[in-house]
Amino acid sequence: MATTAEYDIGPFTFPRGWFVVGEASEATNKPVSLRYFGRDMIMYRGASGKVAVMDAYCPHMKTHLANNTTSYVVMDGKQVDGDDIRCPYHGWKFGPDGMCNEIPYSPAPIPKAAKIRSFPVKEWGGLILIWHDEEEGEPDYDPHPLPEWDDKKWVNWKIDDLGQLGCHSQEVIDNITDKAHLEPIHGSMNIQYFENEYDNHVVWQRLLAGHKTLSDDLLQNDTWYTGPGLLMSRMGGYYNSIMLVAHTPIEDGSVQAWHALMVEPPNYPPSEEDKGAIAAYQEASRTALYQDFDVWANKQPCLQVMQVVGDGPFGKTRQWYKQFYHPRKDAKKFQDAVNGVYVTKGTARDPWPDAAE
Ligand code: FES
Ligand SMILES: [Fe+2]
Repeated sequence: MATTAEYDIGPFTFPRGWFVVGEASEATNKPVSLRYFGRDMIMYRGASGKVAVMDAYCPHMKTHLANNTTSYVVMDGKQVDGDDIRCPYHGWKFGPDGMCNEIPYSPAPIPKAAKIRSFPVKEWGGLILIWHDEEEGEPDYDPHPLPEWDDKKWVNWKIDDLGQLGCHSQEVIDNITDKAHLEPIHGSMNIQYFENEYDNHVVWQRLLAGHKTLSDDLLQNDTWYTGPGLLMSRMGGYYNSIMLVAHTPIEDGSVQAWHALMVEPPNYPPSEEDKGAIAAYQEASRTALYQDFDVWANKQPCLQVMQVVGDGPFGKTRQWYKQFYHPRKDAKKFQDAVNGVYVTKGTARDPWPDAAE
């Protein structure tokens, strides 16, 4: 395991962007504790359905807001009150914005410092996303739109929790540009084209190749990161499908990851046979991803790639990734340095680059 500083990515320990912190079903009126970005946080769903994610500790006497089972505030079901949350210890109440709005026993004005850091939240594709930003600014991009989630012709994904990986997110990000692993790891024979395009906070990989597990023909595969934490892929093959691979830093040098696959069946409504085939397809996609995990879980940190002709543009992707570890005012410098299309030596350009966007 190596740290952000050892990879020399930037002054921030953790990147800026939208990140998954759990499944939507985990956000209920019982607060749960989370640990991401090297901090203890809590998540709950208020009466209006709004989800709140904030730091875990009450500013009064540093009580953990979710890890309590014996306070009467908790046992009497009073902890989530409307969209607010009460601390189990002395009952101070905080809004989803983290501001204290009631101290039940104190007639004095509420101190200005009685607030908890809270994070912007989005519910997206059955997941809870938060905006993490060391400068605590408002989001400056949105997750990729997902109209298929509300389209009944598509079979929505179920989320595979892939667990924790003891390697820095840099190693995961490198994969978007790694042409040379495609054949040995995923069985992608006969690569017709492979290119990367950097477009501000987005990076694309466009690939047409055979695939040992997901297709018996050529598989068109357009994959992209929208920001540093959300990778999506549109695939042809046996079915049209959209894959999600999300990863979120836990500590400096470890990540939690999720996988999901949404499929458009040939028939609507899908037949029983389609349903079985789709479940098997999601499983095959997860297995394909596990082939990457198997390497990441066991490798040493690669602080510097020993780049050879025929490798994808690792240096460009690492440069692109730096924008999220620098103050927002400097992000454009890293974007401008890499924006454009790069075709890895030994392959061709995608002749239809906008086909899947
Ligand atoms: S420690 Fe939270 S109200 Fe006192
Ligand atoms: Fe891979």
